[in-house]
Amino acid sequence: MSTESTAKVVTTHVLNEMKLRGEKIAMLTAYDYSMARILDAAGIDVLLVGDSASNVMAGYQSTLPITLDQMIYHASSVVRGVKRALVVVDLPFGTYQGNSKLALNSSIRIMKESGADAVKLEGGKEILESVDRILSAGIPVMGHLGLTPQSIHKFGTYVVRAREEEEASKLVDDAHRLQDAGCFSIVLEKIPASLGARVAHELKIPIIGIGAGNGVDGQVLVTHDMLGITQEFSPRFLRRYHNLFAEMLGSFQAYIKDVKSLDFPNEREQY
Ligand code: KIV
Repeated sequence: MSTESTAKVVTTHVLNEMKLRGEKIAMLTAYDYSMARILDAAGIDVLLVGDSASNVMAGYQSTLPITLDQMIYHASSVVRGVKRALVVVDLPFGTYQGNSKLALNSSIRIMKESGADAVKLEGGKEILESVDRILSAGIPVMGHLGLTPQSIHKFGTYVVRAREEEEASKLVDDAHRLQDAGCFSIVLEKIPASLGARVAHELKIPIIGIGAGNGVDGQVLVTHDMLGITQEFSPRFLRRYHNLFAEMLGSFQAYIKDVKSLDFPNEREQY
């Protein structure tokens, strides 16, 4: 059954209103039309076409290999399945860092060719020029701080970020800079809950956490992780709602058995 909040088309303005009235924002990833349709029908507020597609859809070890063309393919498939949710698309590695004109061109391609609503970039101070230029074209920008997977080779590990004061205060400073530049929201990944709550309290824009505690304005997970399709990834912040790997495995095994035993197709399943 649809509720008031599931009926209204989600815009960046709606997300701001949700923060103001204390309604938490629910965000998940999607990479294809069929999954996007189900997520949208469920009433998800924001769909992220994450560069995690590089891991869960393409099987790479990191988010670095996925290309802009591949992200646009995933994003346009998702957009065709959505009636209500706000669709945000990750700018992939190598399409914005250190070059604000490239960042603008990449963002324009995403918006024009996929029909998405906004783009997401990883980083703080060092990407402000890109954020500025993208916003000047009227494209909404979501930031991403804390554990930023595109910098995994610099970090060397996926451990919790900003536990030490120096990194925590840089993160708070970066969050303020992104807000002041005009970002409509920021994702905080894998940081202490107290720091997540502090940023959400200090900033006016919605802060979405993944492993950032419950004091933020909303939560995001990778859909394939929360459904239990992926198995190898088990961080503390991940709540699994299903074991779809096992369920799908069972269905595939039953089909194989039916085909081999001549049980499928039966008389009612043929012409
Ligand atoms: O790519 C992705 O799925 C993300 C989320 C982890 C926030 O950036």
